[in-house]
Formats: sequence, structure tokens, C-alpha cells
Amino acid sequence: MICYGAEVANGEKHLVLVTGGGGGLGRALAGAFAGAGYGLVISGRNQKTLQTTAEEISRQGGEIRYFLCDVTRKNEVESLAREIGRELGTVQVLINNAGIARAAGFLEMPDSLWEEILKTNLTGAYNCCKVFLAGMMQSGWGRIINIASTTAKVGYPYVTAYTASKHGVLGLTRSLALETARRGVTVNAICPGYLNDEMTRDNARRMAERTGKKVEDILALFAASAPQNRLIEPEEVASLALLLAGEKSAGITGQGINIDGGAVMV
Ligand SMILES: NC(=O)c1ccc[n+]([C@@H]2O[C@H](COP(=O)([O-])OP(=O)(O)OC[C@H]3O[C@@H](n4cnc5c(N)ncnc54)[C@H](OP(=O)(O)O)[C@@H]3O)[C@@H](O)[C@H]2O)c1
Repeated sequence: MICYGAEVANGEKHLVLVTGGGGGLGRALAGAFAGAGYGLVISGRNQKTLQTTAEEISRQGGEIRYFLCDVTRKNEVESLAREIGRELGTVQVLINNAGIARAAGFLEMPDSLWEEILKTNLTGAYNCCKVFLAGMMQSGWGRIINIASTTAKVGYPYVTAYTASKHGVLGLTRSLALETARRGVTVNAICPGYLNDEMTRDNARRMAERTGKKVEDILALFAASAPQNRLIEPEEVASLALLLAGEKSAGITGQGINIDGGAVMV
């Protein structure tokens, strides 16, 4: 039987860090890992959403701590690692989930938007890999799960910065998987299609303002872009992340796994 629950190393539960843990997908990831018995840390910039998520999970009996950390600032990621190390131990499962998405036509896009998206989605994941990988290598066991997107595999119009950042995340995933392949660490990316969450509703609202269409019609268009004609639930992504974190997934590395209702088949 394959068990996707918390793996045990030296009698202790593996410790998971979910960046952007107060957001839509972050909450689902945190809930799934807490439910499976992992020790859990979530991080982000917004204390209120982190606290709400932590309270929800504690009420359900999960063990969780939250810390403020902007992933674009390497010094904050380093002090996050020091605090976690001091209070909880080594992060053995890193989920790089923090991310931002904003659409703009290429010529109209301010340079600052390009920089912010690349810095958050790509350099943010890089910063966390750089800081947390050493502990995994030392213990000879680790899982890095990068939340990418179907935009890591194919291009879409009006999201050049987001698409470039997520292609970059997949490149980071593949190269790092090769460097860690003999050290007990796996590095994979999950590539979701449109999720049924607030980020998608925000994007639909912005597109509705630009085009004069109704938000519901735009959400229906997003759903129809997948052969299954639906949005993906964050819990579906969380369940794939649990699978990748498990002991029995040691042979899966360097992959970008789509979870998108069949929208992208590369
Ligand atoms: N929604 C979708 O359709 C979809 C599809 C494919 C992939 N994804 C990816 O899934 C991930 C989660 O997105 P979501 O849908 O859950 O959106 P969301 O609700 O907006 O969550 C994004 C999270 O990222 C955090 N974040 C943003 N900038 C950060 C920074 N500089 N430092 C630390 N944390 C930061 C935010 O937390 P704070 O505000 O607390 O900083 C927030 O919790 C993202 O990587 C996104 O690209 C989403």
C-alpha cells in the first residue's frame, strides 16, 4: 500500500514549508499537509491571512506555525531559515508556492511589472531553494515542489512576464533535479491550469473591466479552455503535492506535472 502520510525521519515528522501559505492554493496545501500529519510552517507577507489560515488549521487539530517573509528578499528568507532551524528543525519539504500574476499587453506593460513578477515568481523560488536545499542535502532527504503553471510549458498572450517567470521555474526545477539526483532530494514542478480560487477570480474581474464582458462569462471561458470544461480545485493540486512529497515518489524528479483538465499535453 502506498501511504501519502507524513514520512518519519529519525522518529520525527518531516517539516514542510509552504511559501505564500495564506493564499488560495497555499491554504489548500497547508490543510492537506497538516491533515496528513506533517509538521507545517507557512510564510508570506500578510500577517492577517497567515494568521487566519493558521487558526483554521489549528482548529482542525493540525500543527502549524507561521512566519512573515518576503521571498524576494534573500535576507528575509535566510532569517526565516534561521528561526525555523532554531525552533522547529530542518525543512525537509519546501513548497515554493508564493507567486503573483498580472496581465498586460507587452508594449503597455511597465518595466516595473516585468521586474516584480520575475523577482517574485522566479527569484523568490530561487532564494528559497538556495537557502533550504543545504539542510536537505546534509540529511540526505528532501523534496522541493515548485508551483509553476501551464504557462511554464506553453505561451499565452498578455502574460509575457508571468509566462517567462514560470518557464524559468521549470528550468530551475529541471537543472536542480540533476544536481541533486544522487543526494536523496527530488525537485519537481506542478503546473496547474486555471484554479477555482481568488487569483483566478481577480484576473477575471480585471479582464471584465477591460473588455466589458461579464465576470461569469470570462470564468466560463477559462473553464472551457480545458477539455474537461472546468476549473481545477486547489485541493486537487494539494493532493498531487502530497504524492510528490511521499517516500514512494523518490523516483520522480525533474518533472513538470500538469494538472489542468487536459488543457496542455506537453
Ligand atoms: N490561481 C491560478 O489559476 C493559478 C494557476 C496556476 C498556477 N498558480 C500559481 O499558484 C501559486 C499560488 O497562487 P494562488 O492562486 O493561491 O494566488 P494567491 O491567492 O494570490 O496567493 C499567492 C500567495 O503568494 C504570496 N506572495 C506573493 N508575493 C509574495 C512575496 N513577495 N513574498 C512572499 N509571499 C508572496 C501571497 O502572500 P502574501 O500576500 O502574504 O505575501 C499569497 O499568499 C502561485 O505561484 C501561482 O502563480 C495559480
